Amino acid sequence: MARAAGTRIVMSTAYEAWSARLLADSSVHCLLVGDSVMMVVYGEADTLGATPELMARHTRAVATGAPGRLIVADMPFLSVRRGRAAALDCAADLLRAGAQAVKVEGIRGHADVIRHLVESGIPVMGHLGLTPQSIHTLGGHRVQARDAGAAGRLRDDADRLADAGAFAIVLECIPAPLARTVTAAARIPTIGIGAGAGCDGQILVLHDFLGLNPDFHARFVRRFVDGAGLVRRGVDRYAAAVRSGRFPAAKEAFAS
Ligand code: KIV
Repeated sequence: MARAAGTRIVMSTAYEAWSARLLADSSVHCLLVGDSVMMVVYGEADTLGATPELMARHTRAVATGAPGRLIVADMPFLSVRRGRAAALDCAADLLRAGAQAVKVEGIRGHADVIRHLVESGIPVMGHLGLTPQSIHTLGGHRVQARDAGAAGRLRDDADRLADAGAFAIVLECIPAPLARTVTAAARIPTIGIGAGAGCDGQILVLHDFLGLNPDFHARFVRRFVDGAGLVRRGVDRYAAAVRSGRFPAAKEAFAS
């Protein structure tokens, strides 16, 4: 619908209730409970530690903070590789926790599982290009599909995702011209991250576009605010007020 209306889809990650509440009050269209929670919130080096239980827990928190908003939850590492029944159980838990859809990385070897989820009434968002759950076969967080062969495979995969019933595809870290070509040919909307301006929408990790992680630098991230600086200033002012005895004031205390 957004595509037909020419509206660019805006997505952000969310991992817990307080930021979900703020995002619910914004013009962001859709929240992703990404398995990037492992890196952003838990400080791990990759997303592989995410489990169905942990994803359901974070999904419930986001749904509590943003009731009525479109929430997509990531199917975690290997959850679509243990057969249809296991994938269906995991997706069902994520929907029971408050998601309306799940996101699945890749398609090769589990197209039937994606189709099964869709036929079971579970909307599926695909994810191609840099798929972080395959970090060890991809050799790191690097731009994908740079040669003609890999670009052709990605175009085929986008087609197969639409055939399997996916309703949208995240394209992560691929050359902008390829993302534009895939988007022009795709029957379903594309959401880019590190894929240039030619997609139907964009997603970024909340903490990245708010500048909350000063140590993370990636070419495709724009910091729209110096979140880390704001936090530092707030913490310094709080600590200084406590040390100087200016906090709490009388109005911040109970007289009786
Ligand atoms: O886990 C995540 O946050 C994601 C987005 C970066 C697309 O998959």
